[in-house]
Amino acid sequence: MILISTAGKVGAEAARLLADRGVPVRVLVRDPAKVTALARAGVDVVRGDLGDPSTVDAAVEGVSAVVLVSPAVPAQELAVVDSAVRAGVDHVVKITSKASADSPIARRRGQTEIENGLIASGIGHTLLRNNAYMQNFLVLAPSIAGTDGFGSPTGDGRVGMVDTRDVAAVAAEIATDPAPHKGKTYWLTGPESLSYADAATILTEVLGRRITFHPLTFEEQERALIAAGLPEAVAAMNAQALSLFAQGDSDWTTDDVHAILGRSPRTFARFATDHASAFS
Ligand SMILES: NC(=O)c1ccc[n+]([C@@H]2O[C@H](COP(=O)([O-])OP(=O)(O)OC[C@H]3O[C@@H](n4cnc5c(N)ncnc54)[C@H](OP(=O)(O)O)[C@@H]3O)[C@@H](O)[C@H]2O)c1
Repeated sequence: MILISTAGKVGAEAARLLADRGVPVRVLVRDPAKVTALARAGVDVVRGDLGDPSTVDAAVEGVSAVVLVSPAVPAQELAVVDSAVRAGVDHVVKITSKASADSPIARRRGQTEIENGLIASGIGHTLLRNNAYMQNFLVLAPSIAGTDGFGSPTGDGRVGMVDTRDVAAVAAEIATDPAPHKGKTYWLTGPESLSYADAATILTEVLGRRITFHPLTFEEQERALIAAGLPEAVAAMNAQALSLFAQGDSDWTTDDVHAILGRSPRTFARFATDHASAFS
């Protein structure tokens, strides 16, 4: 049995892929009513909360591998690691980002704390240090649909964006057969590094109407994210991460998705085509 710790973008897709393959898979969710499609697909849906260790202990029972993905609150993810150690879990696939102890972004410092705790636990593990997700563009979809444009503080910075469906496929593959990946770190990216102006050009081609990109300041981005409903601290972190893109912080690509899956990662054009209705 493989446990996926949440059913967000990566977790829900990983659970679906494993269920499709006939691999026993369980997902921990706060609200099972949100994931009825996963239950119908054969996923064992258990109600729980990463903030409630007794529900985590129940979810890891009988599990051989955990895909550890969540908003990455260190105390919560480290409690999952503790629980996995107690339950004799063999392997943890940790979804992480460009983690670093001295990053200006609190979430990346938190990811380092979790990675270090996981490594120190002695449990088998693989780190998936992913570049930014293409699915972040879905947050911009209402603006693109309504105004044919979008803004961000990314300047001319390029980003090796990866589709969360490919992250999920890699996590599912490693959780199913962890041995070749024990102790390894992979840096998952898409096939190309794109600026937000490049993304606008691709959206224009795919959607068949002109989509424009306009630069925002950090403050304008932070205000827009708060207006979109994000808590202030999260809005500040996301605006900070987007501003770092302008400095080339995420201008990197690797062959890791291809090396693990034996196929190329999805392009941004593929992502845009598959989500065209959201942008229209
Ligand atoms: N976005 C990026 O560009 C990017 C890039 C690299 C790495 N990452 C990493 O990817 C991870 C996020 O993955 P994701 O995008 O798949 O997540 P996501 O789509 O944002 O989903 C988060 C999920 O966590 C659930 N959740 C939150 N708190 C919970 C709790 N206390 N107990 C149980 N479930 C809880 C939410 O469920 P509810 O429906 O109950 O709220 C939601 O389903 C983070 O570690 C992030 O650092 C992100």
